Amino acid sequence: MRILAIETSCDDTCIAIGEGKTFFDFSILDGIVSSQIKIHRPFGGIWPTLARREHQKNLVYVLKRVLKESGLLKKNKKEKEVSKEKIESLKKIFKKESLLFKKTLEFFKKYQKPKIDVIAVTVGPGLEPCLWTGVNFAKALSLYFGTKIVPVNHIEAHIFASSLSKEKRELLKSPKRIFPAVCLIVSGGHTQLIFVKKLGKYKILGETRDDAAGEAFDKIARILGLPYPGGPEIEKLANYQMDELLTNQVVKLPRPMIYSKNYDFSFSGLKTAVLHDYKRRSKKIKESREYISLMAKEAQEAIVEVLVKKTIKAQKEFGAKSIILGGGVSANKRLKEVFQREIQKLKKPCLFIFPEKRLATDNAEMVAFCGYFGAKKSDKIKNWRKIRVYPNLKLQ
Ligand code: KG4
Ligand code: ZN
Repeated sequence: MRILAIETSCDDTCIAIGEGKTFFDFSILDGIVSSQIKIHRPFGGIWPTLARREHQKNLVYVLKRVLKESGLLKKNKKEKEVSKEKIESLKKIFKKESLLFKKTLEFFKKYQKPKIDVIAVTVGPGLEPCLWTGVNFAKALSLYFGTKIVPVNHIEAHIFASSLSKEKRELLKSPKRIFPAVCLIVSGGHTQLIFVKKLGKYKILGETRDDAAGEAFDKIARILGLPYPGGPEIEKLANYQMDELLTNQVVKLPRPMIYSKNYDFSFSGLKTAVLHDYKRRSKKIKESREYISLMAKEAQEAIVEVLVKKTIKAQKEFGAKSIILGGGVSANKRLKEVFQREIQKLKKPCLFIFPEKRLATDNAEMVAFCGYFGAKKSDKIKNWRKIRVYPNLKLQ
């Protein structure tokens, strides 16, 4: 089965193609992420309507590149007619995306239908206008190629990202070694601790009550005058080696909810604490590289400590055989280091499964893999008319 996957839940335009005879020999032919970071950077965060416009501009271009790299892009000898009936249906699908309508129609005229068996698309959770752009594109391709659609949950796709590499997939052949697992998904929009009985069977143990972990990184970075996205910037500065210049300066932040009895998180207080500290410093200090690095290090430490402490607590309580990590923040090296260290301290260390850095942040390869898993169950595959978006979609 060959699957084409589309992911536009936030600011990245992502398309991938994967194929396999079984779940275990599934492989990615190609995957491309077209990042919009440069466009959103001046705003210090994502601007949904701007992101949607960029998705409209990028989708056909990214699709063509992925098809080409996969050896599936073939031009028609001469431009093909698209029936009036199909054009009308496409117009209806792209009611609010006229630019994408034009580009898609051009593509259908110029290129042959590629050999794709099913289309996977992220339907939620995410930013509504962005989700619709990807979903409408998937609908148009589905209508034209005559293939069905498998809707994918973005959070579930992040769970699958950790097992995409060949050697990790080998592990899935002995599910008893991995499941039950606890999974921590930490991204710009979500922070969730999930009990995974097996792939496809989830229970949310806790989640953030306000800001997500990635959002905390982004907001703290903004206070410190660092560009968006803040996570990688804070990580870089946290590694900065300091001389004795500021040794008399102390920066201490709270560890919100670290000892609370539940598995919820709260990160908005952390950002406020950073702001208070920042405001009371002199201009000279707060603009110094030493202060910003000291604060970045302490903020990273505070976020990492809370995330690791609560995940390990859940691992113990539920006797999880593995800890699975996913989402943009799981690209953070310090987070993985502290996890490894704490897992080694356990009486019986569990497995630690995390995505390679490239697959921690949003991508369509994880959507392809997750969609492939879903497509094996016939009740998950749907006609394009039945597909819609769910901005607040929960894992079930
Ligand atoms: O999963 P993702 O690409 O998009 C969402 O679904 O939200 O996550 C993006 C988030 C951003 O908040 C970004 O600052 C954070 O992941 N992030 C990091 C790192 N790389 C990305 N946070 C901490 N350390 C990193 N190295
Ligand atoms: Zn994500």
